[in-house]
Amino acid sequence: MTHKVAFIGGGKMATALIGGIITNGTDPRSIYVYDPNTEQCRLLSDTFGVNATSLSNEVPTACDCIIWAVKPQSLRNAAEALIAKFSSALHISIAAGIRIKTLQTIFQSRRVIRAMPNTPALIGAGVTALFSGDAVTEHDKNHATLILQSTGYTFWVEDDQRMDAVTALSGSGPGYVFHFIESLINSAIALGFNADDARKLTLLTMQGSVAQALESTDSVSLLRQAVTSPGGTTEAGLSVMNQWRIHDAMVATLQSACSRAAELGDEFELSIHELSPAER
Ligand SMILES: NC(=O)c1ccc[n+]([C@@H]2O[C@H](COP(=O)([O-])OP(=O)(O)OC[C@H]3O[C@@H](n4cnc5c(N)ncnc54)[C@H](OP(=O)(O)O)[C@@H]3O)[C@@H](O)[C@H]2O)c1
Repeated sequence: MTHKVAFIGGGKMATALIGGIITNGTDPRSIYVYDPNTEQCRLLSDTFGVNATSLSNEVPTACDCIIWAVKPQSLRNAAEALIAKFSSALHISIAAGIRIKTLQTIFQSRRVIRAMPNTPALIGAGVTALFSGDAVTEHDKNHATLILQSTGYTFWVEDDQRMDAVTALSGSGPGYVFHFIESLINSAIALGFNADDARKLTLLTMQGSVAQALESTDSVSLLRQAVTSPGGTTEAGLSVMNQWRIHDAMVATLQSACSRAAELGDEFELSIHELSPAER
């Protein structure tokens, strides 16, 4: 990639993306980062050799792609201060919950892509969903895919509402998985394992099961049946999970997260419409 890319915000997700795209062969000198935090800038330039600055006027206007990697609540202020510099760029927002129409308003452009990464992106094992605005070209989409796939798997969704479902599943998913792991570890400790063994056995069991499911052509349901001998220990354990309606709990979990994602989008839109037309 020879384009100039600017990151607005140089925190955790920006660091993951920058690390990924440099590993994939991008020249660090073509990457610019603006973050008001000088320590963070020093860390990024020392680690990756990118141009990181706490002075917004040091980011060149000729950047082809701007990646907005600030917290959702900081996005409006960040854009207000900087957007005039980047009138012809492709904008990619990774801010959770902010819909494409709102992003187009904030960036005063229709050439906008909304992306939803998840935390395993930090170690190159992420899942990112992308949705494009109406003025985005195939070339823009390829550019965004190239950037985001440096942190893992990417896929495009057909409408913005799907991003709420994606947020509920892959965006929030690491939280559910960590909760499940935590519960297994605590249960193992209650069975008499020490904390280290409980953690190790639990994590390796999770890792092995996921790897097996990824490699297998069988459905996950078949894999579960294959390890559940009638009258055996797995069956005894699973019957308790069924009694406690773990499946129903997961359905409700995803529904609740999906509704909350929609609510967050509504709340953010409301805050935008509270601005006067002159400010918008
Ligand atoms: N972390 C995740 O797993 C994850 C997953 C999906 C999506 N996202 C999205 O990714 C975005 C970034 O999240 P993160 O976890 O990387 O956050 P973060 O670590 O807090 O990074 C945000 C950075 O932006 C800086 N900043 C604040 N205001 C700014 C401004 N006006 N201009 C430029 N930089 C500014 C912050 O500086 P200060 O610390 O000094 O405020 C901080 O260094 C969020 O919108 C989030 O919704 C994150």
